[in-house]
Amino acid sequence: MIQYGFVYIRMILSIYILCLYAEEKTQENFDRKTEESLCDYTKGKWVRDHKGPLYNGSSCGTIKDGQNCLRHGRPDSGYLYWKWKPNQCDIPRFDANRFLDLMRDKHLAFIGDSMARNQLESLICLLSTVSTPDLVYRNGEDNKFRRWRFESHNVTVSVYWSPFLVAGLEKSGKLDHNVLHVDRVNERWGNDLERFDTVVVSVGHWFLHPAVYYESGSVLGCHSCEASNCTEIGFFDIFRKAIRTTLKAVARNRREVILTTFSPSHFEGRPWDSLGACNMTEPYEEGKVLEGLDLEMRRIEMEEVASVREAKGAEVRLEALDVTAISVLRPDGHPGPYMYEFPFKNGVPERVHNDCLHWCLPGPVDTWNEIMIEMLRRWRV
Ligand SMILES: *[C@@H]1O[C@H](CO)[C@@H](O)[C@H](O)[C@H]1NC(C)=O
Ligand SMILES: *[C@@H]1O[C@H](CO)[C@@H](O)[C@H](O)[C@H]1NC(C)=O
Ligand SMILES: *[C@@H]1O[C@H](CO)[C@@H](O)[C@H](O)[C@H]1NC(C)=O
Ligand SMILES: *[C@@H]1O[C@H](CO)[C@@H](O)[C@H](O)[C@H]1NC(C)=O
Repeated sequence: MIQYGFVYIRMILSIYILCLYAEEKTQENFDRKTEESLCDYTKGKWVRDHKGPLYNGSSCGTIKDGQNCLRHGRPDSGYLYWKWKPNQCDIPRFDANRFLDLMRDKHLAFIGDSMARNQLESLICLLSTVSTPDLVYRNGEDNKFRRWRFESHNVTVSVYWSPFLVAGLEKSGKLDHNVLHVDRVNERWGNDLERFDTVVVSVGHWFLHPAVYYESGSVLGCHSCEASNCTEIGFFDIFRKAIRTTLKAVARNRREVILTTFSPSHFEGRPWDSLGACNMTEPYEEGKVLEGLDLEMRRIEMEEVASVREAKGAEVRLEALDVTAISVLRPDGHPGPYMYEFPFKNGVPERVHNDCLHWCLPGPVDTWNEIMIEMLRRWRV
């Protein structure tokens, strides 16, 4: 009896070790290039994947209406069956238990604009497949501030609306331009900063709008602004300053910081209300290079991440989640007219509103979170 028990335990043990080994193999594969950094996951191609997404709009209640493409009647589903294949490694399929284990007893905060929300909602849906999130806080129109608890792993996930990261005002009925103070972070999340163990920052598109910029209380200049006594200075340098101010404030005290790089849109010069503005149903082949706004915004972000890392040395845990090039290959991943429910139920109109900026959920953003899990894993070893 004892003998049998022993053999049995040995068998279980060796199966367990085999599994660990198999898992190690995939991980090793992902890390192989250098010990320090991931393989260059930004170079590769989208390949067909019969497995399909881990969740859908029926199984997850946290998808913003305008991005719930299937529920809104998007007729094709081929865009759901792709996975990103880097040239030198493989990205493991999202493992929700693994993510929750990595984040046990920790607080993860997403800070930024609607692209931050897009990535956050993908993550909540992915995690919901193994653990039920408890929405413990909700505030602001359009769900701008929310917090969930995954009691199973004592994990907290929050989202903070802050499209400029830095302090300022968004344009409103009374104000026809944005106001940014590039030398200090937005108080709303800044006041809670000490509570976060891990931060994901994601912004960009709001910087294109008319704005007046301040630094140390005096006017720096403005962008697309009617104010006559103000000098046009564009937005690239301001974007850089806002990123720098934020990273300096956040990347401290062993806090883990991930900056998701600029998310490309696919209007590609077409009017946003033109029929078929982004109606592709398959990814682009590899070889489409970054250009224009996508190239410049990403470059600024990469440079600022590198410069803060250099200045702060080994103590900082800061990395770019470099999704720009991966995502530019996915013109098929946007809601397009399906930002609204059944846009063609009364026939095909001449003009239709299109969202070629955000991403359908499920969709390409799920891959961003698959890459993010690898970053967290390496910080934990
Ligand atoms: C959504 O996911 C659930 C759970 O995985 C599954 O049972 C259901 O069939 C899916 N629905 C659609 C429309 O794919
Ligand atoms: C949950 O995590 C927090 C730290 O974020 C810790 O202080 C607390 O003791 C944990 N609770 C449990 C029940 O483990
Ligand atoms: C324009 O000039 C006025 C008067 O000097 C000043 O009060 C105001 O703040 C300036 N506006 C901007 C946008 O610089
Ligand atoms: C996309 O829209 C254009 C313009 O309306 C149309 O000619 C084309 O057939 C559409 N393609 C698909 C795949 O629906």
